[in-house]
Amino acid sequence: MPLPTTLTIRRPDDWHVHLRDGPMLELAVAATARQFARAIVMPNLVPPITTRAAAAAYHERILAALPDALDFTPLMTAYLTDTIDADEVAGGFEDGTFAACKLYPAGATTNSDAGVTDIRRIHPVLERMQSIGMPLLVHGEVVHGEVDVFDREKVFIDSVLTPLVDRFPGLKVVLEHITTEEAVRFVETSPENVAATITAHHLHIDRNALFAGGLRPHAYCLPVAKRRRHRDALRGAAVSGNPRFFLGTDSAPHPRSEKESACGCAGIFTAPVALECYAQVFEEEDRLDRLEAFASEFGPRFYGLPPNEGNVTLEREDLSVPDVIRHADQVVVPFKAGERLRWRQA
Ligand code: DOR
Ligand code: ZN
Repeated sequence: MPLPTTLTIRRPDDWHVHLRDGPMLELAVAATARQFARAIVMPNLVPPITTRAAAAAYHERILAALPDALDFTPLMTAYLTDTIDADEVAGGFEDGTFAACKLYPAGATTNSDAGVTDIRRIHPVLERMQSIGMPLLVHGEVVHGEVDVFDREKVFIDSVLTPLVDRFPGLKVVLEHITTEEAVRFVETSPENVAATITAHHLHIDRNALFAGGLRPHAYCLPVAKRRRHRDALRGAAVSGNPRFFLGTDSAPHPRSEKESACGCAGIFTAPVALECYAQVFEEEDRLDRLEAFASEFGPRFYGLPPNEGNVTLEREDLSVPDVIRHADQVVVPFKAGERLRWRQA
């Protein structure tokens, strides 16, 4: 069948994004709001978002940074710590301040030092979340130094997540940015209240991308990309039509100087080219017909929100991705910098 030259889908959402704060905020918000109507905004700021007041203030800063022409709704999250107040979290969900809570195992990734040191410490909070239907969003990696970095997701699933889902069978759980075949199987064999987001970059790259002709800091994120067979399992899940796999970019901009460093930060800035990257994968998998459900339907269904009104159109035309994206004094290298993509947003 000849490929379509345009593809119009219902306006999508990004169910996992880092919009940052301060000087990076405008750049990050504009890139996301150009493509997505809503986004689940990660709370890993310094200091982390742990209260309704902090979330409301951050929500205001995001809206203030939004270009006038764009219509965008940030959905805020609370950052779980060992000592977070269950009333604050639950109250924030009930009054609409928080859409979900994010679990960072302490030390797992960027700005996760205030994260949870032992899941048992937050059992009372999880109990409460389960009882009110508040989703738990999980960074699924163990942090012990003796576990190989490429095994951290698998070990987390076996040692933390499986017992957690057994203990809280009614808790809505999203395993974020999955990177392994084991994570795909875990979701497929879990009950309906367990889902996963899949990033655009993990559908494109495998771990070779980190070492292609030299050390490539812009391909470094957490969880780190795995072997090709894992990437292919993620592709299979994304195009499967299973509603428990949906779009979450994990777009995570860092200043170029902090990526190109002796100790480079984890995070890939996909927001400027996210939909194009997803479309390319769905095309390569001969499943363009399933992009809309993955990008625009399954996420709202899981979160219990209505899908967006309105559409976006992608044209099958080459897009040259710039080497850098600048805004004020910020310089960020986007995913696929200097490369060509086969789709572009009209
Ligand atoms: O690569 C990542 N970057 N993974 C995360 O979990 C956090 C994110 C960030 O905030 O930079
Ligand atoms: Zn993230």
